[in-house]
Amino acid sequence: MPRLAYVDGRIVPLAEAAVSIEDRGLQFADSVYEVCAVMNGRLLDWPQHRARLGRNLGELSIVPPMQDAALTAVAHRLLAANRAREALLYIQVSRGSARREHVFATGMQPTLMMTVRRFDFAQRVAQQAAGIAVVSMPDERWGRCDIKTTGLLANVLAKQAARDAGAFEALLVGSDGLVAEGGSTNVWAVIGGRLITPPLGHRLLPGVMRETLMRLARNAGIAVDEQPLSLAAAQSADELLLTSTTVPALPIVRLDDKPIGRGHPGPVAIRLAALLWAEIDEQTGYRPGLH
Ligand code: PDD
Repeated sequence: MPRLAYVDGRIVPLAEAAVSIEDRGLQFADSVYEVCAVMNGRLLDWPQHRARLGRNLGELSIVPPMQDAALTAVAHRLLAANRAREALLYIQVSRGSARREHVFATGMQPTLMMTVRRFDFAQRVAQQAAGIAVVSMPDERWGRCDIKTTGLLANVLAKQAARDAGAFEALLVGSDGLVAEGGSTNVWAVIGGRLITPPLGHRLLPGVMRETLMRLARNAGIAVDEQPLSLAAAQSADELLLTSTTVPALPIVRLDDKPIGRGHPGPVAIRLAALLWAEIDEQTGYRPGLH
């Protein structure tokens, strides 16, 4: 797979792709992003990613770099140029570049960049079968975690601390004891046969996979409640799982070194993972192991 990037109107080799040193994305994390799954050469849940990007730009009053149809065309052009089959498409839009000053300059042109990298989704099958470990960490992020900005330092540090502790992900817990989400994932619990996930609001990202899983679960007759989840409730849940674009339904089998349920992926998580793979197959024709 060649490695080509898109920056401000041009597709160029990744090593040559560059933005200004005064780009506000670099200086203030004044930028939003999306990570989209490419499977079998097709984009998964693209309309939802595009819509979220548009909402986030609006929240920060960043001028959209182009219309939706043009953005879609650029994404497809870049995927084709990279001959991407199983990959992640990364899209970032910053407010643009200007002399460094906190207050926005007038008439700024946003910077649009996209990269593509190969990604092995099939690795998740083994992780779904084995389950993963997480550790809880204090949520030290800002107050608008619903906006997908590149200001991810608190997420990065929490995830690194989790990895250093031998865990896959950090569960971010507020000072009130409520679990918000993972460092780069949404969190779910199964308690008494019901699927529970923290409600949308400023404390967590409205994950595209979260929305997809909720729809699939409800269609399959699984009761879903969007309600606060305390760390104590998570610790004693029958099952826990994570979702994101890069992690479709991953069962958590250990939290802070204690087993969840019987310490193995539970029946609801296994069922949800199967529902998601079927949805992925329907949208993209991708089946793990076949490609
Ligand atoms: N992260 N919560 C946070 C904090 C995230 O960063 C992500 C995604 C999610 C799940 O969102 P979605 O289902 O739309 O992928 C939840 C991406 C994958 C990343 O930063 O790499």
